[in-house]
Amino acid sequence: MTRRLDVKIVLMLVVTVLAPLGVSVFLVARALDSSLGLGVNRAIATHMQQGLELYRLYIEGVRSGFETRLGRSADSHELAEAAAAPDETTVRGALERFVASDPSLVSVRLAAPEGGAVEVEAVRMPGQGRRRTLSLERAVALGPYTSIEAVFGADAGVFEAYEKAGQEFDTYKALVKGPPGYLHNRFVAVYGIILAVAMALSIVLGVFSARRMARRIHRLAAATAAVAGGDLSVRVDPGPRDEVGELVESFNGMVGELEVSRTRIEYLQKISAWQDMARRLAHEIKNPLTPIHLAAQQLKEKYDGSNPAFARLLNQSTQVIEEEVATLQRLTSAFSAFAKLPEVRPEVVSLGEFLEECEASLAHFSAEGGVRMAWSRPERPVYALLDRMMMKRVIDNLVRNAAEALKESHVPSPTITVSAERRGGKRPEVEIRVADNGPGIRPEHHPSIFDPYFTTKSEGTGLGLAICKKIVFEHGGRIWLDDGPREGATFVIVLPSPGAKKGGKDG
Ligand SMILES: Nc1ncnc2c1ncn2[C@@H]1O[C@H](COP(=O)(O)OP(=O)(O)OP(=O)(O)O)[C@@H](O)[C@H]1O
Ligand SMILES: [Mg+2]
Repeated sequence: MTRRLDVKIVLMLVVTVLAPLGVSVFLVARALDSSLGLGVNRAIATHMQQGLELYRLYIEGVRSGFETRLGRSADSHELAEAAAAPDETTVRGALERFVASDPSLVSVRLAAPEGGAVEVEAVRMPGQGRRRTLSLERAVALGPYTSIEAVFGADAGVFEAYEKAGQEFDTYKALVKGPPGYLHNRFVAVYGIILAVAMALSIVLGVFSARRMARRIHRLAAATAAVAGGDLSVRVDPGPRDEVGELVESFNGMVGELEVSRTRIEYLQKISAWQDMARRLAHEIKNPLTPIHLAAQQLKEKYDGSNPAFARLLNQSTQVIEEEVATLQRLTSAFSAFAKLPEVRPEVVSLGEFLEECEASLAHFSAEGGVRMAWSRPERPVYALLDRMMMKRVIDNLVRNAAEALKESHVPSPTITVSAERRGGKRPEVEIRVADNGPGIRPEHHPSIFDPYFTTKSEGTGLGLAICKKIVFEHGGRIWLDDGPREGATFVIVLPSPGAKKGGKDG
């Protein structure tokens, strides 16, 4: 199950990453094709070629202008005369004038076949923009000279523009002439690499996170199986606070509640069995008690003999019988009271008022036993869902036990404290505590004190705490002995609350 889950998570991640990428590859490929269709076509090629031709024509024009100028100078009378002169200086002078007359000229050179040439270079101010030189040569018949060579300078901008346009046109031609779909395929290859990298990354990431997630879910599944098998003590570590963490927390809460209600149901079942027994016992014992009592009285009354020793014995014996019958009657009424515990009917009750009522009805404990009773009501109005009469019975039982324990112990200032307050937590609940500073309960008795008939008292029935627990459970609450470091014994009762209600008076 776990395996399949992490495979699923990885697959999901891969699909999530690759699907939009794949779609974008498709869309971009189509966009590329259509833009290539727009850019790579005959009309564009023709325009480009025409532009290039214009540049060429312009350059041609410049060149032929230079050629004309060179021709004109080569054919001039002035140069012919100068060349005929025997000394070179005259030729040089003529060339210098030629250079000076044409601002485009960089240098001019007359060359003779037997060697010997005259060359004149222009002396110009530098920094007139970038220039490109153009060298032209022409055959002449000027004295000993057979050729004239002139270097002209022209603005470099047009030449560079022409070269650049030429390069662009070449690239363009390569594009058009390349194999069909060449660009498309290159694009797909690059995108393919991107896709592969994204896929590898998402798989690595997916495996990592899926392992983590699956491990947590596996733990939860194992715990669920344990719960299904009846073990309600399992709890799972919620881990990080995310959805799975929340799920685990609510699982823990649910199992906790299941455990509480199972204990509750088991206890109530056990109590109900005990109640059944108590009912039968009470019935069996109660019926013969009255005839026994009457018979004993009759025996005493009807004896009119004169044996004083026998009369005294008879008197003592009937007294014992009457006393024991009285004890048995008290026991049977306790049994039947336990057997016939009324049904709990909780209602919304102000906890402060309820404690006031208890204080009034339990005042006799302090009066008779010399015990100090301390009552601590909640400061703000707190409401509980409780059955007044039954819950008073619980408080009565707890206070009675405390008073009995204090009477035995002879502590310096015997005190019973009853306090009630709202309980902090997720659910609205209230807490009632009954504490005394008596001898406390021996640890070995802790597990048994709530069992019916468990008592350490000669006159006790051991039903008090069992009745308390049954009543509290029927309220949907909990009761336990708080075995903290405090002296004496403290019993804690937690009851459900309807939450804060407005308009109630409380004290
Ligand atoms: N406050 C207390 N201090 C010390 N021991 C206590 C206290 N409350 C209960 N116990 C112990 O728990 C036992 C069970 O109490 P429970 O009220 O169920 O029965 P009981 O008091 O013995 O009998 P009954 O309630 O019929 O008089 C007591 O016998 C006593 O040993
Ligand atoms: Mg008791």
